[in-house]
Amino acid sequence: MLPSVVAAVAFSAGVALGCEIPAQAPSSNIPGGFAIQIQSPDFPAADGHFMNTWLWGGGDFHLFVSPAGNATNNFTLVDGVITYPLDPIRRAVINGEYEPKDNTTKMFMTERGDPRGVFTVVYGCNPSDDSLQLELATPEQGTSGVQGNMGVRPFNGDLDFRWQPIGTTVSDPDRPWHKVTLVVRPAASA
Ligand SMILES: *[C@@H]1O[C@H](CO)[C@@H](O)[C@H](O)[C@H]1NC(C)=O
Ligand SMILES: *[C@@H]1O[C@H](CO)[C@@H](O)[C@H](O)[C@H]1NC(C)=O
Ligand SMILES: *[C@@H]1O[C@H](CO)[C@@H](O)[C@H](O)[C@H]1NC(C)=O
Repeated sequence: MLPSVVAAVAFSAGVALGCEIPAQAPSSNIPGGFAIQIQSPDFPAADGHFMNTWLWGGGDFHLFVSPAGNATNNFTLVDGVITYPLDPIRRAVINGEYEPKDNTTKMFMTERGDPRGVFTVVYGCNPSDDSLQLELATPEQGTSGVQGNMGVRPFNGDLDFRWQPIGTTVSDPDRPWHKVTLVVRPAASA
């Protein structure tokens, strides 16, 4: 191979070229079922893993990075809220174990009326193969008007999901929080 060709191949393999994003914004309702895959190229412990459920007591499910907990591809999205269509219906809420050290709050699933995690659905390009994907971005805590990022953080040897408001200025080196991208993986293709 000519050196210039080698260089061109290396370039295309290492750089996302930008898939074609549809002009129309995606719906904030996704009937599902779908699994949620995590992308965090800078944090391999979570990259490519899935959001799993963990029956926690009182009918709540806490959310963990796989392989902890149980895998599911039965999530739906209702008005931006990750929903688990069981009886009773569980919804993802942002309302637990606030931690001032990194300004994060836990996201988990419950039938109760805690402030929900309200995500904006956006198109993105898969950083590894450049395919078009649906991402759950910038969750808002209920109707607070405060938008954040979703991330993961160590919890008893596993990783759980925590919300951090955009613009947060604190971090906890003893228990680092890593921002992640949540990707919708429809059951049919999962
Ligand atoms: C996983 O699912 C099984 C079957 O529903 C249940 O018995 C078990 O408690 C679940 N485990 C976790 C960690 O949620
Ligand atoms: C998804 O839902 C279907 C229908 O209720 C059920 O049979 C299946 O076990 C569920 N799968 C998972 C992984 O939760
Ligand atoms: C924590 O988040 C709130 C918004 O909920 C924000 O007002 C505050 O400035 C943040 N604190 C720090 C230390 O970043």
